[in-house]
Amino acid sequence: MTVLKLGGSVVTEKDSPETLDGPALDAAADALADALAGGKVSNLVVVHGAGSFGHHYASQHGVSKTEGSRDATAAVEINRSMKTLNEFVLARLHERDVPAVPVHPFSAAHRDEAASRGEAAETTLPTQQVATMLGEGFVPVLHGDVVAQAGAGVTILSGDEVVVEVAKGVGADRVGFCSSVSGVLDDEGAVIPEINSYEEVADYLGGSDATDVTGGMAGKVRTLLELGAPASIFGPDDLGSFLDGEGPGTRIDGA
Ligand code: IPE
Repeated sequence: MTVLKLGGSVVTEKDSPETLDGPALDAAADALADALAGGKVSNLVVVHGAGSFGHHYASQHGVSKTEGSRDATAAVEINRSMKTLNEFVLARLHERDVPAVPVHPFSAAHRDEAASRGEAAETTLPTQQVATMLGEGFVPVLHGDVVAQAGAGVTILSGDEVVVEVAKGVGADRVGFCSSVSGVLDDEGAVIPEINSYEEVADYLGGSDATDVTGGMAGKVRTLLELGAPASIFGPDDLGSFLDGEGPGTRIDGA
């Protein structure tokens, strides 16, 4: 089973609210359709980020991974923008005969109370429906979303967190992050091909004590080292190569 995240910065125009990057989404949908039709990949789950859709409303309402809101209008606006983007992604996949179906995390996930203010709380996302969809030949398409959090109203659930929950819940063999960067970069801006422990890259990513509440690269690398499946971070041009089974960009494997 493969879980692929399409970064919001890849499929949307970052600087204008609710604007799709149509050509980039078409290219990604082409790569997915080709890989599925050619039998290069089966049992595929897609997760997309927010880009100029969810992030726009989240910042407008002051909602983040750690700052919650009990304003239902805010929750609905953020969720609706993500469902709109999800519809676009599904439509482009259906045009290419990919049997994509939506899964909206807000309706399924929840978070415990954070231990202290500003701290990310434990997230639970059921995945049995995703496993069943895969078993029936569908391509589930999830996304970053709002999530109900005890003691905080709603907070933001990033697409990266959704990837981790689905990968663990369904038991992924491979995880890919198609993002606007071509991998984890060293201090000279070159892509690091392989990371097997945090110590190897601590110098580039801010040291092993660095906290990371913004979902930056340090936190991502740490999470992926503990995932139990190899993960790759790569740019849009390498999506086909990842789906072909290669390990473009940076391959992170803590096993
Ligand atoms: C954010 O998801 C979700 C919302 C703001 C609702 P991500 O953090 O995964 O989105 P991108 O990929 O960075 O745009």
